[in-house]
Amino acid sequence: MSKYSRKSLAVLVSGYGSNMQSIVDSTKDGLLKGLAEVVLVVSSNSNAYAIERAKNEHIKAICVESKKFKNEKKFTDVILDELQNADVDLICLAGYMSKIGVEIIRKYDGRILNIHPALLPKFGGKGMYGRYVHEAVIKSGDTKSGATVHFVDENYDTGRIILQQEVNIFSNDSPRDVAKKVMIIECKIYPKAIKKVIEEDLKKVHLF
Ligand code: GAR
Repeated sequence: MSKYSRKSLAVLVSGYGSNMQSIVDSTKDGLLKGLAEVVLVVSSNSNAYAIERAKNEHIKAICVESKKFKNEKKFTDVILDELQNADVDLICLAGYMSKIGVEIIRKYDGRILNIHPALLPKFGGKGMYGRYVHEAVIKSGDTKSGATVHFVDENYDTGRIILQQEVNIFSNDSPRDVAKKVMIIECKIYPKAIKKVIEEDLKKVHLF
């Protein structure tokens, strides 16, 4: 990461883009103002509303769909090239539903963040995304859920946790009700977590 300038963020999306929007908003007039800017949005889905949101914000938005590539390596190489061309410092997965290539994870070790709509380590892992998470939480009878921002490692949802926040679940809540409450929390904690990572990094730089 560069020492003093604003950090350049890439946000990887697949859907509606609420988290992406909260990050962009906070760089314009919130916690990340002066600290970071979103320079690239990568979508794994050409129909993602997140692409339209990025365009409205005049942010470069590209679509890289895995099905268009012969193999995983080629798909990963295209994304890696885009990230490097944009000189990205941090990568934020925000509802990104494709698998992120191991070459990217190794190249950006400690610089890839993900948001998960539950209190990890519970309700994480392969197949645990979106509504499946909230359905599993309700089924478990837990009275709390929440959101987690964590670093990405080579396994699903196991990287070091940066920030979590809880929400209460009531006995008559549907998965949709839980999703709504969790999303409100997600949009608050993602910018906070990014700020924390940038500030921790700056502290390390100042030690030398
Ligand atoms: C968010 O709830 C995010 O936590 C979830 O997808 C949603 C994306 O919404 N991600 C996962 O489930 C990853 N395991 P958004 O596109 O409106 O931000």
